[in-house]
Amino acid sequence: MSIIKKISELPRHPDPVIMEPDLTRVHEIFEKLADRHGKMFTVQFADQLMMVVADAKILNFIVCKRPELFGPYRRNSRILEAIKTDGIETADGHDWKRQREIIAASMESIYLAQYFETIKAAVEALRNRWITYGENLAEINLEAEIFGFSISVFTSIMFGDMADMPADEREAAESLMFNLVSVLGKRIDALLPQMHLENISEDKDFEEAIKKLLTVIENRIAHSRNILAGNNKTGKIRSQLQVLMETIEKEGLANHDVKLTENILQLLLAAEPTTADTLLRVLHCIAENPQAQKDIQDEVYALLGDCSHIEDFKDIKKLKCIDAVILETMRIASSSRLVLVEAKTDLLLEDIEVPSGTPLVLLIAYCGLDAENFHQAAVFDHRRWQRESKAESEPHNSKAALGFGAGPRSCPGRGLAMLVMKTVLAMICANFQIRRVPETPLSNETMSKHQPFSLGFTLKFRDRHHDFIAIESREIDNVY
Ligand code: HEM
Repeated sequence: MSIIKKISELPRHPDPVIMEPDLTRVHEIFEKLADRHGKMFTVQFADQLMMVVADAKILNFIVCKRPELFGPYRRNSRILEAIKTDGIETADGHDWKRQREIIAASMESIYLAQYFETIKAAVEALRNRWITYGENLAEINLEAEIFGFSISVFTSIMFGDMADMPADEREAAESLMFNLVSVLGKRIDALLPQMHLENISEDKDFEEAIKKLLTVIENRIAHSRNILAGNNKTGKIRSQLQVLMETIEKEGLANHDVKLTENILQLLLAAEPTTADTLLRVLHCIAENPQAQKDIQDEVYALLGDCSHIEDFKDIKKLKCIDAVILETMRIASSSRLVLVEAKTDLLLEDIEVPSGTPLVLLIAYCGLDAENFHQAAVFDHRRWQRESKAESEPHNSKAALGFGAGPRSCPGRGLAMLVMKTVLAMICANFQIRRVPETPLSNETMSKHQPFSLGFTLKFRDRHHDFIAIESREIDNVY
């Protein structure tokens, strides 16, 4: 019979944790502490004791017991409420369920097939853009390219054809997102108790950007309402916003019942940086692993022949190797590294008594690199996801690959994110050769820009018919 222990009996980091000014790297502090204290320990932050968890089984238990036993971390929710970005991520209980159902319905595969047309157009535009750069392609910043692509694709999926938008709204929707994402990253990390919002210098610009974006969203909602109420109600649904509004109406709800405005902003903010960052990490891993690149090229050449991109939505399912490379990148170098929750009641975690209100830091990326969960865990091996028999690469605990989270609150955008990533990666690998050229490491100045997606890639261009276009990445030290 196991003996019940108090949370105070867990290993405890002796000193209060002081955060670095670079808040986008907060996870590193916890991951380093896990190396020292094991997979369950506590740390003290200012006035608050936090429990840190890195064990795959316990993590799965926690994420699957939402919303009954665990909810979102309330300090985080208060910050997001204050800046009016409180939608599904901060919702709990019945409110969360209602919002989740509407959002999940807008990501069903029947709609993904429609959004695919928008994705295809954005991927073609990206390819044409790179080709027109000619020799100057070497000068451009691949981070900005991929990030710009991600913003453009998810904004178009949400609002429909961007060309139909008034120029000032389009500008606001696209360029504000660029600045917003890095600042919001800092705001979210400001949830840690000793952080103070007043210390974030961009506050004013941030409030302004949020306000402008919310106005754009409200205008778009009004625009979609007109379309849905008009004669072309029977017309083909193209935008995610229209799908959301139709579903809300079908369920007999009002927009404010599901915080539609806030959730549109939250969906854009949840989709764009994560997908761009993951894509950059995949490109880096492909550049680092020639076998992965060759396997993908064989797959896309066999599927596409001379075509430069995927035409048919049904073909996306056939991209098994790209799928495996994305999964492996997310296992070894995930961009989502921690989730914060709060115990809603007194409960037992294994043999530990956890009091109601305890904040828990879930190290969802750490367990993907744990030798207990994956054979040669530190080695990039995309084929581990494709082997029919896992016996040759045991252990293989797919429940420890938590890049999209797990359970009822796992990422509802997973299918859409995979669709976007697979479509653009197929185009890149069919047309370009990705190569890593060690150059000067990124300067401290570049690294201190607080861009979570900052991976320091550059592009070089050569005509495909003579050889391949080369995408080159600078040496970086913090991807894995
Ligand atoms: C590669 C890209 C992406 C990654 C790595 C990612 C990762 C995650 C993770 C780790 C969570 C937390 C899961 C949990 O707590 O168990 C999450 C939640 C969420 N994601 Fe994503 N995500 C991505 C793309 C997207 C996209 C494209 C959308 C929407 C279009 C989206 C919308 C959301 C929303 C709304 C939530 C909150 C769900 C809830 O609280 O019920 N994500 N995502």
